[in-house]
Amino acid sequence: MAHDVLISKEDIQKRIQELGEQITKEYDGEELVVVGVLNGAFMFVADLVREIKLPVHLEFMAVSSYEGTKSTGEIKVNLDLKESIAGKNVLIVEDIVDTGLTVKTLRGILQQKGPKSLRLASLLYKPSRNVHKVAIDYLAFEIEDKFVIGYGLDFDGKFRELPYIGVYSHG
Ligand code: IMP
Repeated sequence: MAHDVLISKEDIQKRIQELGEQITKEYDGEELVVVGVLNGAFMFVADLVREIKLPVHLEFMAVSSYEGTKSTGEIKVNLDLKESIAGKNVLIVEDIVDTGLTVKTLRGILQQKGPKSLRLASLLYKPSRNVHKVAIDYLAFEIEDKFVIGYGLDFDGKFRELPYIGVYSHG
């Protein structure tokens, strides 16, 4: 099965380099807690932290919607932070902002823990699908309303290993 390439491996890497430079500059030598949201952001966060020239403390969280693929207004935390983020600069790293429910809820949860600052980096954003307004401080790519796979993103648990972002095609 072949998938149309939407964003090539080279374009992804180039954009991540740019984001890494921007993040490095804006935090100006300060320590940063990077929170990768599993599973989708695993590849993005791995590449992004290599381009951030700051003292980084890497953490992971795993969250899921309560019901199937439809947004319910609630998310469930399946893996939580190991250490306190109170008084720290925190950067959430997500794979995609679709309806925005996941990041909006996650932001709320982390904000309550009293970080010094809380920002969001997302690999992808689908503006046409957005319901919950969230500010994406560092966005790699805006895309059309297509179901995408690869570079961490899955369909039914598959295709996460692809080094590019493709459009999922049946058959
Ligand atoms: P949101 O809460 O609606 O913003 O959904 C975010 C989550 O839905 C992401 O973290 C992905 O796991 C999943 N998702 C949304 N769109 C896609 C897609 O096109 N491909 C793969 N996963 C997606």
